[in-house]
Amino acid sequence: MCGIIGYTGGRPAAPLLLAGLQKLEYRGYDSAGIALLAPEGIRLVKNAGHEGVMALELLAGKIGALPEASAGIGHTRWATHGRPTDINAHPHLDASGEFAIAHNGIIENYVSLRARLRAEGYVFRSETDSEVVAHLLALHYSGDLAEALRGALAEIEGSFALIVMSSRHPGQLAAARRNAPLIVGVGAEGEFFIASDIPAVLKETRDIYVLEDGEMVVATRGGVCFTDFAGNSRPKTVTRVTWDAAAAEKAGYDHFMLKEIDEQPQALRDTLSGRVAKSGAIDLGIAADFFADVDRVAFVGCGTAYHACLIGRELLEQWARFPAETAIASEFRYRQPLVDERTLVVAVSQSGETADTLAALREAKKEGARVLAVTNVVGSTVAREADEVLFTWAGPEIAVASTKAYTTQLEIMALLSMFLAARAGRLATERSAALLKELRSLPAKIEDILARKEQLRGLAAGLSDSSSAFFIGRGLDWAVALEGALKLKEISYIHAEAYAAGELKHGTLALVTKETPVIAVATQRALYEKTLSNVEEVKAREGRVLAVTRAENKELAAAADEVFFLPPVSDDLAPIITVVPLQLIAYYAAVRRGNHVDKPRNLAKTVTTE
Ligand code: M6R
Repeated sequence: MCGIIGYTGGRPAAPLLLAGLQKLEYRGYDSAGIALLAPEGIRLVKNAGHEGVMALELLAGKIGALPEASAGIGHTRWATHGRPTDINAHPHLDASGEFAIAHNGIIENYVSLRARLRAEGYVFRSETDSEVVAHLLALHYSGDLAEALRGALAEIEGSFALIVMSSRHPGQLAAARRNAPLIVGVGAEGEFFIASDIPAVLKETRDIYVLEDGEMVVATRGGVCFTDFAGNSRPKTVTRVTWDAAAAEKAGYDHFMLKEIDEQPQALRDTLSGRVAKSGAIDLGIAADFFADVDRVAFVGCGTAYHACLIGRELLEQWARFPAETAIASEFRYRQPLVDERTLVVAVSQSGETADTLAALREAKKEGARVLAVTNVVGSTVAREADEVLFTWAGPEIAVASTKAYTTQLEIMALLSMFLAARAGRLATERSAALLKELRSLPAKIEDILARKEQLRGLAAGLSDSSSAFFIGRGLDWAVALEGALKLKEISYIHAEAYAAGELKHGTLALVTKETPVIAVATQRALYEKTLSNVEEVKAREGRVLAVTRAENKELAAAADEVFFLPPVSDDLAPIITVVPLQLIAYYAAVRRGNHVDKPRNLAKTVTTE
């Protein structure tokens, strides 16, 4: 999500930190800042972007006014908690101005920590979750910066890569990681960089230490010392990075799309974090009266976001028995939709800038509806214009083909549906607890699928020479099939269509020959026999079937030409993991065809035209 960098050494820190942050620009960010350990104390410059001028450009104009210093930290922010404003930009200082922090990740328990620290007299300046760390450092400090950091770490829950420094310790940086990357770059003699990403330091060094979860580092001009959070020493060896700058931006991956597919377990963990209270109740951070008197829900979005809407509607109907509809935003806006002040319109958009989704949102508001946005970008137009927002915390998505935004949108759909169902008295506490337990287990299940990439690469090879492919499924599987077909067509350029499996025989079956791959998605137990019959129909026309299904579905596995088994999963939450093999099949088919995977022809990441 955010980019962080620290420097200690013999050269002026500010230009090095700025140059490092500029190398992280490709990841997307909204604000930037630098704090320097100057002889007279910590000096700070930070800002969001303003009026079309990027934040780093503004920052570059300010660093000349900073005093000379040979240690400091810098940050590019991708807002999650709190809007993209100058004050919310990192680094953050404690009230005394003696401690500075830069953070990437999410502090899950920041609300309770902030309340406690406020009660002890600490004054907060920003809306961020991260600022608590600066105050915790001050609270735990008794002469040793690393000890203060350990004290703070013992209190915080969530994910973090943190770099901290204190005016009481000139030339010293301390850093720690849990579920967020952190590396140390070894520069010229007595010179160390600490960063979230290798591109930030690649111009200065290729000699890197990689921190593991639960590790800390203290860097001074005299050297680096690695420990665990308890202070036990951790031996480390330097790795020589051989990637070029372009590969380094993708952390060694060939494409952002594959990197983003692999980031899904963490994106799901982050999106869930802080949204379940200790009592087990779902906490969406939205006042209860926002949902009062809502008698129907309309989900709107475009492309992949629309496919997430389809799942949202199903879950809401099943769990809450709420009347709900889905609409493609570009249709909704022109069809004089039946919405009024008792309608909740859920506008789903990764970018938060899609013109049609925005127009649908405005149309709904004009009719008096309440609008809840589900978006990945804090400060986006959809986020700003909606009445309430639920953010997916997937981090910047760079590949045009949406992957981690989709799975996190599905997670939000599940949480929202559970919340509304519980509110309507239709979701028993035990069922809710079981669903939450399973939501927490999904990242590990996706990791299991990701570990079987080679099988999926082979399956993709089998269809990459086809000119056309069909995806079939029923119920939630049909919605996932639609997303699978979109992924395949947009990056591999293979014509791909998804059908409700029962519809195949009403026309499309005429197109099925032995040249036609049919990807059959079958996770829904109640519909399994029916989907199996549809697969038999395809086989009778000599179509080639690739089944994505449960391990127990032996008849389907026998009928299909190829099969990919999913880890055990409930019917209702199956879409969140089922889409992953489909994403990977599309990816490997596109790579095999030599396509420009991250920037497919004719498509833009953000569609701001109608
Ligand atoms: O930013 P949004 O979620 O509003 O974008 C909507 C669609 O343009 C987007 O999902 C598009 O379909 C993707 N390229 C699909 O991978």
